[in-house]
Amino acid sequence: MRRTASGDRNRTSFYPKGCDQRDTGCPQTVSVTLPDPAALLDLATDLARRGGALALRMREGVETLATKSSPTDVVTAADQAVEALLTEGIRAARPEDGLLGEEGADDAGTSGLRWVVDPIDGTVNYLYGIPQWAVSIGVEDADGTVVGVVFDPAKAELWQAVRGQGSTLNGRRLACSSVTSLGQALVATGFGYDERRRAAQARLLPTLLPQVRDIRRLGAGALDLCAVAAGRVDAYYEQGLSPWDLSAGRLIATEAGARVEGLCGKPASKDLVVAAGPGVFEALHDMLVTGDAERDPLATSS
Ligand code: IPD
Ligand code: CA
Ligand code: CA
Repeated sequence: MRRTASGDRNRTSFYPKGCDQRDTGCPQTVSVTLPDPAALLDLATDLARRGGALALRMREGVETLATKSSPTDVVTAADQAVEALLTEGIRAARPEDGLLGEEGADDAGTSGLRWVVDPIDGTVNYLYGIPQWAVSIGVEDADGTVVGVVFDPAKAELWQAVRGQGSTLNGRRLACSSVTSLGQALVATGFGYDERRRAAQARLLPTLLPQVRDIRRLGAGALDLCAVAAGRVDAYYEQGLSPWDLSAGRLIATEAGARVEGLCGKPASKDLVVAAGPGVFEALHDMLVTGDAERDPLATSS
């Protein structure tokens, strides 16, 4: 089977207001053998459920084990235990696949597939007992995410997607919001752990807030993308997300009809993720261009 290796299937060639026109060139083609996505989905689902159950059991008496990029970027024993459960399960079932996990798993593999896992997305919510955190598992090939599973054990919500086959919440097919006016849009966002990034993210809010219905900061990027998929919010944007925040939720949202991109036709990445129903994507996109939302405060201040 021949597939393009041009990156995310949701990439578009439009250049909205404020963007430079550029030639991205012709996509290369590569030959790959795709595994059965249903088998990948079953494995990812089983691991997400088991990881979520373990995290729930470890919630009682939870405390910070260490900090990472900043004093507020915490890791708990559950983050590490769930990542160990996931990586052991993946290595046992699919030893040739690559692995990338927030708590340290990093293995290139040889199969052309890579599992990208966030053992607990929303760790600060987990620490405080706020029921808005999840296990996130994406399985990626050269074209992006093939299978995505996000399991929210506190609400018993299982979000699943297979590329080209739609996305579901507890088995029910998802469709993103059909809102067409940014002024009617409920927009989720998130803030990074670095204080310079937070200051830049805060500076964007006075531009955005008067022009949308309202803003939500729910505290788990993977679940924010799932919320876009379900129309629980109309849009979401954030700078600074890591691959494990994005891998599964991006597919769940796009398979529900949302656009998940960066600015000016670029793919969603650490630079910026913009996820929205098609009716408000471009208006939000243009506002984020105007607000210079992609400028990296960590790069410019060093
Ligand atoms: C964080 C959450 C948060 C987002 C941060 C992420 P973590 O992940 O998704 O909502 O704003 O950018 O780092 O640390 O809880 O896994
Ligand atoms: Ca995360
Ligand atoms: Ca995490």
